[in-house]
Amino acid sequence: MNTTLKSLVLAAILMLPSSLIKAGEGMWLPLLLKSLNEAEMQSMGMKLTAEDIYSINQGSLKDAIVHFGGFCTSEIISPDGLLLTNHHCGYGQIQSHSTVENNLLKNGFWAQNKSQELANAGLTATLIDRIEDVTAVAMEGITSEMNSAERQSKIDRNLGFFKDDYELQSYQEIVIKPFYNGNQYFAFITTIYKDVRLVGTPPESIGKFGSDTDNWVWPRHTGDFSLFRIYAGPDNLPAEYSDDNKPYQPKHFLPISLDGVEEGDFTMVFGFPGRTNQYLPGSAVAQIKDVLNPARIAIRDKALKIIDGYMRADEKTRLQYASKFARVANYWKKWIGENQGLNKTNALAKKQKYEDDFQESCPPKYRDLLPQINNQYRKLEDHALAREYYREVAQRNIEIMRIVNMAKQMGRAFKKNGTKGYDEFVDRISPRLESFYKDYRPEIDQEVFAALSEMYVNTLGQKYSPAEFHTLQSTEDFEAMAAELYSNSVFTDEKRMNKVLFASAEVAIEKINNDPLYKLQSAWDSIYKDEIAKPYDAIQDRINILQRYYMQAQMETFPNKRFYPDANSTMRVTYGKVNGYSPKDAVTYNPVTYLDGVIEKYVPDDYEFDVDSKLLELYENKDYGQYTDTNGKVPVCFIGTNHTTGGNSGSPAIDAHGNLIGLNFDRAWEGTMSDINYDASICRNIMVDARYILFIIDKFAGASHLIDEMKLVRPKRGMAKSDKEMIPNKPNFDRTKLEQKSKIKKSQIKEYK
Ligand code: ARG
Ligand code: ASP
Repeated sequence: MNTTLKSLVLAAILMLPSSLIKAGEGMWLPLLLKSLNEAEMQSMGMKLTAEDIYSINQGSLKDAIVHFGGFCTSEIISPDGLLLTNHHCGYGQIQSHSTVENNLLKNGFWAQNKSQELANAGLTATLIDRIEDVTAVAMEGITSEMNSAERQSKIDRNLGFFKDDYELQSYQEIVIKPFYNGNQYFAFITTIYKDVRLVGTPPESIGKFGSDTDNWVWPRHTGDFSLFRIYAGPDNLPAEYSDDNKPYQPKHFLPISLDGVEEGDFTMVFGFPGRTNQYLPGSAVAQIKDVLNPARIAIRDKALKIIDGYMRADEKTRLQYASKFARVANYWKKWIGENQGLNKTNALAKKQKYEDDFQESCPPKYRDLLPQINNQYRKLEDHALAREYYREVAQRNIEIMRIVNMAKQMGRAFKKNGTKGYDEFVDRISPRLESFYKDYRPEIDQEVFAALSEMYVNTLGQKYSPAEFHTLQSTEDFEAMAAELYSNSVFTDEKRMNKVLFASAEVAIEKINNDPLYKLQSAWDSIYKDEIAKPYDAIQDRINILQRYYMQAQMETFPNKRFYPDANSTMRVTYGKVNGYSPKDAVTYNPVTYLDGVIEKYVPDDYEFDVDSKLLELYENKDYGQYTDTNGKVPVCFIGTNHTTGGNSGSPAIDAHGNLIGLNFDRAWEGTMSDINYDASICRNIMVDARYILFIIDKFAGASHLIDEMKLVRPKRGMAKSDKEMIPNKPNFDRTKLEQKSKIKKSQIKEYK
């Protein structure tokens, strides 16, 4: 953008009343904030500079942001490496420390001192030391004459040399990823800590309050957080787990604001969003909305109904299937919301308008691009639908297929390394098998198999189905086939399976190869590979190339539009405002929920909406300490216009001054289409209010030693008088009263400067 235009845009932004600024779209690279975002962020109320957020010369916010296990985000909130993330991000670790006698999921867990903190094999915490634009390196020697395979192999070689030459410390790693559909490349220099211990978690009745019913839903009342700690060797550098390791001393940790938020406040979310597709042509969005999502939803709908029936009938089944059900239901519900949001915001009409503008203004060489991409998407459609069906039916929802697949690898291990290979493989997978069978009910899976394979054949026809399915006509035929398979296969029964596994390798492989489910899966899988995946991949490769050109073409055609790269699990900043929304006619949602709402939703002994007696007691006695809003109530969750996606869970919500105000964990249902078409009118991210987290740690769990580690601040007290007057009902802050009520030491409360 040239400077005159930039100042015009900025002036326009500044002239808008702050309540009208809804900016939220975009997941920006921290190292580009200075040039692309700083001015806008400041105009929205941010008091920081881009350098405060991302600096390679001094400690900055980015030094507190940690990729948690590679799948979630977390942040450092104390000088002793205390790490905050979601309960649903730490779920696997919490579960692994739980037994029937000592059920951490059910009861919660609070280490009373560091020696009680629990080690987690395999869990990593990744810090980003530096980000570098390596596009020029990647593109060296690339010419327009190269075909795409030549281009890619040249890029790979260029980047390979770059990596080899890069001077890394022994504890560092370098990851290079493509951005803007392969038009740019950035390198991330990381330090990965390997000793990450569980420090505390609320019980599920808080951390997962509302469970599947409330998942993706606003208003929300979930305390979705857990606490971990990074440990380091004597030099503060990464080390394997050891009793001698010390808490990691970070370059920066986030202070926590006790002042909370109100409508219109600036918020920033810093984390590792996984995957988005904002620049797809309308034809691709239409395919997702009208073909792929309905298929996925219908398949999962059927599977979930069957499982739900069994779960409702029997408590043991409910426990066995709770976590599997949650996993399947999570995206089922997301896709339903996504389609509703795409319809409600007329996403396709907007894409069409954008593409019309593009066709009109693009350089002539790009005019053919969209017709070509659209043509490829038309060709892709049947294969894409079949691929989705195969993946949903044969890979995800018929549970036993996972075991059949493992058996295939067993055969491969035997082929490669004989009995030794086989034995090693069986040893390695035994724990996985054991935990699979612990929660496996063949009669449920058999019913899912019958229902989904019938759907598969009816939708896709014989061409994509194994011969075994060709003669089946009625529902009864599918049920009979399923019954036959499930009663004769070794895989559906743990005892039969174990007997086979512990026979000699030759006998086991022979038995497995002749198993009816094994044969069916093999036939199905090779049809998938030949008839579905092969043509699909060929067309998709073509689309990827066209999409790269289309991205480049959009950037050239609209030089004044700011383009942010799609999410790819790299570190990003998104910013917006605390903001309610209107999901439908005559309905408006406030942006903040309170503990009163938890009590409103309370259903005694319900597995989703039970409330712990201690929490009820605190509510009864209004024993809230300093964790209340200006209205005297304890805030629980809030929403904002920040653009987030899967992987952003556990990301900090940060105020205008760089303090933690909340913890991101979900999005509001109507706006889950933000992954393909963000719209500030209904896209909202959901965060737990930092004060609810502190309230639970301090008042509910009595873990005040953890609060003592943190730095609590009151940034709004430092505001100018005129600013203060804009805030209604703000009682004067009474420190004496507050300190009597709270266990927090005076030294803990620092004025914000
Ligand atoms: N919807 C959130 C996300 O996509 C939370 C999922 C965990 N909670 C659940 N009830 N399944 O990850
Ligand atoms: N719940 C998601 C996560 O776990 C966040 C989202 O999709 O908004 O990352």
